[in-house]
Amino acid sequence: MSADVSRRDFARLAGAALGAAAGAKSTAAAENETAASADRHAPAPFPKGFLWGTATSSYQIEGAVDEDGRGKSIWDIFSHTPGKIEDGSTGDRANEHYHRYKEDVALIKALGVKAYRFSIAWPRMFPDGSGQPNPKGLDFYNRLVDELLANGIEPYATLYHWDLPQVLQDRVGGWRSSDTSKAFADYAAYVAARLTDRVKTIFTVNEVGRFVNFGYGWGIDAPGPKLPAAQLNQARHHVALAHGFAVQAIRASGRAGTRVGAAENIAACVPAIATPENIRAAEIATRELNAGFLGVVLEGKYTDGFLAYAGADAPKFTPEELKIIGTPNDFVGLNIYAPQYYVTASDRASGFRVLPFPASFPHMNSEWLRVGPEVIYWAPRLAAKIWNIETIYISENGTSSEDKISADGQVYDLDRIMFLRNYLTQMQRAIAEGVPIRGYFLWSLMDNFEWIFGYGKRFGVYRVDFETQARVPKLSAAFYRDVVARNAIGV
Ligand code: NOJ
Repeated sequence: MSADVSRRDFARLAGAALGAAAGAKSTAAAENETAASADRHAPAPFPKGFLWGTATSSYQIEGAVDEDGRGKSIWDIFSHTPGKIEDGSTGDRANEHYHRYKEDVALIKALGVKAYRFSIAWPRMFPDGSGQPNPKGLDFYNRLVDELLANGIEPYATLYHWDLPQVLQDRVGGWRSSDTSKAFADYAAYVAARLTDRVKTIFTVNEVGRFVNFGYGWGIDAPGPKLPAAQLNQARHHVALAHGFAVQAIRASGRAGTRVGAAENIAACVPAIATPENIRAAEIATRELNAGFLGVVLEGKYTDGFLAYAGADAPKFTPEELKIIGTPNDFVGLNIYAPQYYVTASDRASGFRVLPFPASFPHMNSEWLRVGPEVIYWAPRLAAKIWNIETIYISENGTSSEDKISADGQVYDLDRIMFLRNYLTQMQRAIAEGVPIRGYFLWSLMDNFEWIFGYGKRFGVYRVDFETQARVPKLSAAFYRDVVARNAIGV
């Protein structure tokens, strides 16, 4: 259609032509009919009951790091170490959510979403990592959960969004020791016993692929420093073990029917050109490149390819540990942002080839966040097929944006809207084809402490002024509210 002929003009023209041909029907009636059928096909609807949500995490928003008996986490120590955070900031104050949680629940409600994914700070619950719990820590999450429920918002809790108690780091080397996996099981049991009367869904660990590789592999996230490959693989194994222990602990100590799974930044593979051969290659790549966490959790074993590649650096494990790790989950959470690997078929033994990215590949305001909306179609589709998954949540998706305040006081984050519109369209495509995505959590409710980037990268649909703590809806908040209200993209 040429740019100067609008859809409506086109419908009108088509209606006139139809009317002339049919003879009997008036032009007006035909016009209405054509316009109505054009409208019927325009929106991309989501299934009835699709769960819309938004997400945050404890260290990124809570602040109040020294209040009510909270212990230190590895991120307190790391962010206070000079040179670690780009803008020299810390999460000491962050969004002051610990005190402003009621205001923040009202922001969630205003989006019209029915679910909120937040994380529990382990060092608030167990300042000493294990042993004696801190009842005031629990009190905070009781207040938050009650406030959410009173506002018709379902709480989805994450147990570990990277804020490991520092004492466990000091005492046993954090995830380098399986003692941390056991302490995590006790923490999970404690939370399950006290919150699952109201919290029906628990994510165990968030983004193992990030916090293990960045924190232990490269040493650029807490706790650092960079470890040799064997220790890195062992740390990842201990996290998988912690996940398995936690699934069992939640089942043992929580209400019957509590649902549990992980939220993983799946190594996201996309066929470079969607031929049957490349799709198969992307499937093989997805399985192999996720073998260290998702694979072992969902299959109860490491793939031969993973073990061969790791060689002498492979993790040490027992058959009993694999059984614990492979305890069945109720769902899989996938955090999906950028396409990470564009793949083609290959004659190599692996069966796939990862293509290099051209320097000109477009990215969002965060450089790592390459724009590839089809990743939210392919990653869940391939994962569901490989591991026979029945329930997937997109536990995170979103983008940072410059988010400047305009002269009129508004934030016109058109790039975020563009990003969300395209990703949600691809998610809808997946669902329409039968991929079992049941819910979506937009990252993030509000700007917050973006780890090593400090407050320099803003991911919220609400803008936060970190001086005054004022929260202002960006244009994307209106966009998301509209999608949620219509349960569809477009009209
Ligand atoms: C994933 C992490 O879970 C979250 O903490 C982070 O802020 C977002 N990605 C954006 O980088």
